[in-house]
Amino acid sequence: MIWWAALLLWQQNMQLPEVSNNPHTTEADVEQGRKLYAGRCAGCHGPGGDGGKGANLAVPVLPRAVSDRSLYQVVRYGIPDTEMPASLMAPREVWQISAYVRSLGKLRNEPIAGDAGRGAQLVRGKGGCLQCHAIGTEGGRMGPALTDIGARRGPGHLRNKLIDATSDVPETFRLVDVRTKDGRQITGIRLNEDTWSIQVRDFSDRFHSLSKDSLASLRSERRTPMPSYKQRLDAGEINDVVAYLAGLRGAQ
Ligand code: HEC
Ligand code: HEC
Repeated sequence: MIWWAALLLWQQNMQLPEVSNNPHTTEADVEQGRKLYAGRCAGCHGPGGDGGKGANLAVPVLPRAVSDRSLYQVVRYGIPDTEMPASLMAPREVWQISAYVRSLGKLRNEPIAGDAGRGAQLVRGKGGCLQCHAIGTEGGRMGPALTDIGARRGPGHLRNKLIDATSDVPETFRLVDVRTKDGRQITGIRLNEDTWSIQVRDFSDRFHSLSKDSLASLRSERRTPMPSYKQRLDAGEINDVVAYLAGLRGAQ
C-alpha cells in the first residue's frame, strides 16, 4: 500500500507533459492564465511580471524557461534551492499561466525615458553604486552584481528600488551585527548560517567565519544597507540610471 502511494506521488510529482509546445494558447486561455497568475504569482513577480521578489518575466527570453516544456516544468515544479516554489495545479492551468507569462514578454518592451550614457556615469560617480555592486569586473561585493540586472528585473522594479531601497529586500537577506567573546565587533552581510557557525562579509569586504560558541551576541535583521536615492538624485537622473541598468544584460 505504502509502496503504491509513494509510486503515485512520484508519478504525480515528476510527470512532464507529453507535448512540447503549449496546447492552450487561445485568447481565453491567456485571460484565464492572467487570473491564475494574479492569484498565485503576482505577489513575487509583480502584477505586470516585471519582477520584485521574483525574476522579471516581462522579457523576450526567459533564461530558465526557453522552451514551452521548460516553462511548464518551472511553473509546475519550481526551481530547486531558490524561492521559486512548486505549484500544485492541473496541467491545463499550468499551460494557461505559461501562455500568459509568454504574453508578458511580447507585450512589454516599454520605452525608457532616460539617457543610458548619463546613467552609466551616475552609477560610477554621484550614485556611488560600485562601492557595493559589481558590474562586469569592476565594483564591490556587498550587494548583488548588476551585470545582468536588466535581464532579471523590469524597469518598474529598478525604479522602486532606487526611490525606496527598503522595498523588495529579499526574504533571506540579513544585515548582522556580532560581538565576539574576545571583544571584536563585526557588522556586515550574512553569507551563510547554520546551527553552529555564521559567515559574514563586513563593510570593508573582509570575510569572517565565526563559530557561534565564540559569540557574545548576534543581532540579525532583514534590513538593507543600500541608501534610497530619492533625495540624492533628481527625477531625470533616476530615469537615466534606470535606462542604464535596464540595458545591462550580462557579459557582452
Ligand atoms: C515566493 C515567490 C515566488 C512565487 C509565488 C512565484 N515565483 Fe517564480 N520565481 C521566483 C524567484 C525568486 C525566481 C528566480 C529563481 C532563480 O533563478 O534564482 C523565480 C523564477 C521564475 C521563472 C524563471 C524566470 C527566468 O528568468 O527564466 C518563471 C518562469 C517563474 N518564476 C514563473 C512563476 C509563475 C508562473 C508563478 C506562479 C504560478 C511563480 N513564478 C510564482 C519567486 C516566485
Ligand atoms: C552601501 C551599499 C550599497 C550602495 C551604495 C548601493 N546599493 Fe544597491 N543594494 C545593496 C545591497 C546590499 C542590496 C541587496 C539587498 C537589497 O535588495 O536591498 C542591493 C540591492 C540593489 C538592487 C536590487 C537587486 C536585485 O537583484 O533585485 C538594485 C537594482 C540596486 N541595489 C541598485 C543600486 C544602484 C543603481 C545603486 C547606485 C545608485 C546602488 N544600488 C547603491 C547595497 C548598495
